[in-house]
Amino acid sequence: MDPLDARTRVFATFDPESLGTPGILTPLQERSEVDIWDGEGPPPAAELRKRASGADGLLCLLTDRIDASLIEGCPRLRVISSMSVGVDHIDLVAAGRRGILVGNTPGVLVETTADLTLALMLAAARRIPEADRFVREGRWTPERPWAPDMLLGVDLHGATLGLVGLGAIGQAVARRALGFGMRVVGWTRSGRPVPGVDSVSLEQLLQEADFVSVHVALTNETQGLLGPDEIAAMKPGAILVNTARGGIVDEPALAAALTSGHLKAAALDVFASEPLQADSPLLATPNLVLAPHVGSASVRTRQRMARLAVDNLAAGLDGRPLVHSVG
Ligand code: GLV
Repeated sequence: MDPLDARTRVFATFDPESLGTPGILTPLQERSEVDIWDGEGPPPAAELRKRASGADGLLCLLTDRIDASLIEGCPRLRVISSMSVGVDHIDLVAAGRRGILVGNTPGVLVETTADLTLALMLAAARRIPEADRFVREGRWTPERPWAPDMLLGVDLHGATLGLVGLGAIGQAVARRALGFGMRVVGWTRSGRPVPGVDSVSLEQLLQEADFVSVHVALTNETQGLLGPDEIAAMKPGAILVNTARGGIVDEPALAAALTSGHLKAAALDVFASEPLQADSPLLATPNLVLAPHVGSASVRTRQRMARLAVDNLAAGLDGRPLVHSVG
């Protein structure tokens, strides 16, 4: 028997040790052959298919499309471990049919993502990117010095924040918003009460909230949840923030609402299609703060995510329960 066949095989679409975490792969490498993609960016689809085809375990990122046909082409695959909380890039039904375990990395990124949400709320409300450009472009001059009406924004304190989704990240945002003196209302399908948050219908939330922040996973049910009707139903002058998944918010409807002035501003960290195309109308939309999907991007959190993704994979390949499994 080929000695390689006696060992489990792993294909990793990224190097988890590259995040300043040397040695985190060692326990896995002691039991498995670990093949690591070291090209720039994610592996192209054909390369992913080829390198994963003989693997028992797959360590991947949200940029890897793990669809039914890829799964079919991996007859030995037993565990998929993604270094992400979202798993909308994985065909969970196809994985489930084959009894493949799927792991993700919730929990460790909650506070970091909530921090970014507040940063984006403040950036949009207080026009921080615009203020930065104003100074850099030399528009702050002795002829136009401090002025009572310069770059006026809106306050968080005293405003109502509407949270669409009250999972761990939504709750972490609520804690921060309460500290900023906001009233917090929230909608969640389960209707589960959350301390400090008034539970409301989605309709009521959209009518009342000065800020709306999205915190649901992208599923068939939440795709387009904030569509043209919902955006039209938002309070005039409201601000929308999305750090969840782009597909939840209808981008053309949002762009139209910003252009018409129905919404005061918005901030997006996530997009229906990523990376955002150079010709995306969003780039020309006024009062829109953009970020390149960096919700969990702090050094410590990315290290914890990498470690958890490796632990999930090792557990699954050993036949132990995953630290965090999906479904
Ligand atoms: C980030 O979006 C993640 O799903 O971890």
